[in-house]
Amino acid sequence: MDKRITIAIDGYSSSGKSTFAREIAKELGYIYIDSGAMYRAATLYCIRKGLAGRDVIDIQGIAEAMKEIRIEFVYNPDSGESETYLNSENVEKEIRGLDVSAHVSAISKISEVRTRLVELQKQMGANRGIVMDGRDIGTTVFPDADLKIFMTAPVDIRAKRRYEELKNKGIDASFEEIRNNIVARDITDENRDISPLRRAGDAVILDNSRMSIAGQMEWVRKLIEEKLHDR
Ligand code: DC
Repeated sequence: MDKRITIAIDGYSSSGKSTFAREIAKELGYIYIDSGAMYRAATLYCIRKGLAGRDVIDIQGIAEAMKEIRIEFVYNPDSGESETYLNSENVEKEIRGLDVSAHVSAISKISEVRTRLVELQKQMGANRGIVMDGRDIGTTVFPDADLKIFMTAPVDIRAKRRYEELKNKGIDASFEEIRNNIVARDITDENRDISPLRRAGDAVILDNSRMSIAGQMEWVRKLIEEKLHDR
């Protein structure tokens, strides 16, 4: 019997999903997939091709471009983390910058983009033993996930976290700019027609405003044990 489970983590931008999901995957020896990085890589490709920009959004061209992209996660032993590759190029740093952040919600709204990326995500999770984070993982990508968690925290706390994260990566941005971007993305993520950000009915809510990562791990371990026991 396969005792491995599928864990879906959804929630608002910068609610700490990636850190938490990565830690769970590490502890269980599961694959971790950052689905947001896939939308970011697709967005970078469209920006570079001139299909998305300040006054352009070429839906037809973007739909076509989706056939040309390959996204992989490759483990970097130096950093101890998986990094995002777009058509064999390491784009991990570039996809976190403000240019990609400013356009990613608009690209994520396009149905051809979602269809393609959801298809890739389903393939990645076909053998279970996966932790994936995003906005629609528990609702659309893995509606049958064994454990679904929906994460949230107030916008100021999330903006502060993103600010620190970017600063540590050597990316320059003001707190105000980051906060505005997060507010704008919350609105687009919750209001898009296809797969909007929603808590799945069977997802457990986690407000981690006052929780350390160790505290979050302690909280989730009990849930995981129950799910493993049920399988
Ligand atoms: O998790 P993140 O902030 O890196 O995600 C970047 C953007 O990608 C986010 O604004 C919305 C989009 N996204 C999405 O639409 N669906 C997902 N499953 C993950 C991310």
